[in-house]
Amino acid sequence: MTIKTVGVIGAGQMGSGIAQVFAAAGFDVVMQDIKTEFCEKGLKGITSSLEKMVAKGKLTEDEKKNTIGRIKITTKIEDLKNCDFAVEAATENISLKLEIFKKLDDLLSPNAVLATNTSSISITKIAAATKRSAKVIGMHFMNPVPLMKGVEVIKGLATDSESENIVADLIQKLGKTMVRSNDSAGFVANRVLMPMINEAVYALNEGVASREDIDNCMTACCNFPMGPLALADLIGLDTVLAILNVLYTELGDPKYRPCPVLKRYVDAGWLGRKSGRGFYQY
Ligand code: CAA
Repeated sequence: MTIKTVGVIGAGQMGSGIAQVFAAAGFDVVMQDIKTEFCEKGLKGITSSLEKMVAKGKLTEDEKKNTIGRIKITTKIEDLKNCDFAVEAATENISLKLEIFKKLDDLLSPNAVLATNTSSISITKIAAATKRSAKVIGMHFMNPVPLMKGVEVIKGLATDSESENIVADLIQKLGKTMVRSNDSAGFVANRVLMPMINEAVYALNEGVASREDIDNCMTACCNFPMGPLALADLIGLDTVLAILNVLYTELGDPKYRPCPVLKRYVDAGWLGRKSGRGFYQY
């Protein structure tokens, strides 16, 4: 099937990044969020990301304008009804995702593939909320979406190969690299990354080193592009906590227990870059 219009649920950092890369690749995009201000903030983020690319000479002014022109914003999920494909990038909350998938299932053509950008929740469980479980798939983008090459693709128990091929083709059109994972909590990226971030928070809490030294150690000694605490601030501490909670409950191993300090920061509203304060101040 030919995909021309892509629906994106969520205009936060992931949703807006996903909308941006699809629009940049020539797809029409309908980006939905529950409040106009969220949609506008998402569009503002897209504009500033594209402006950075123009400033670096990676994009022309016309390409920037055309990309933005291909993105429609809306607060009504019903506006996705003519989309040929949809990616959900709402908050990492299972009941919310199930509700969204029920709505998408009712709205979009029965052949349309419905993807979720969940970072840890079972694709099989999300698919079961629909009447098209063969057409539901995980398409997990990395933050910041315009810069990160890899996209994890996860088939649920019932997902068919045709849906996987459609997603593989889309990822190629986005100029990104597909990485397959089975439907296990956290898939690969977060199964490996989150315990490291959590351990860095424990190390900070136990006074092993300062936040700067922990981060500098991982950049200078291990050649990571950024330290784990700075990365947690980039991802969002609420998202990090939500993923660790899924790993902890689904896999039942105490090694995934979120550090209490992380919980306290989230309680305080210190969510990282998006709230102006996390392990660092912005
Ligand atoms: N859009 C466009 N351009 C951007 C941008 C954006 N959103 N953000 C930064 N840039 C550009 C900058 O202008 C800069 O351009 P030049 O190199 O031409 O000067 C370039 O990207 C690099 O940016 P910075 O110099 O600010 O920073 P950097 O060199 O440290 O690179 C980074 C930034 C790509 C984020 C790098 O630090 C990195 O790869 N960090 C690790 C990110 C990571 O691990 N992501 C995965 C997180 S896990 C996840 O997302 C899954 C999940 O479920 C939680």
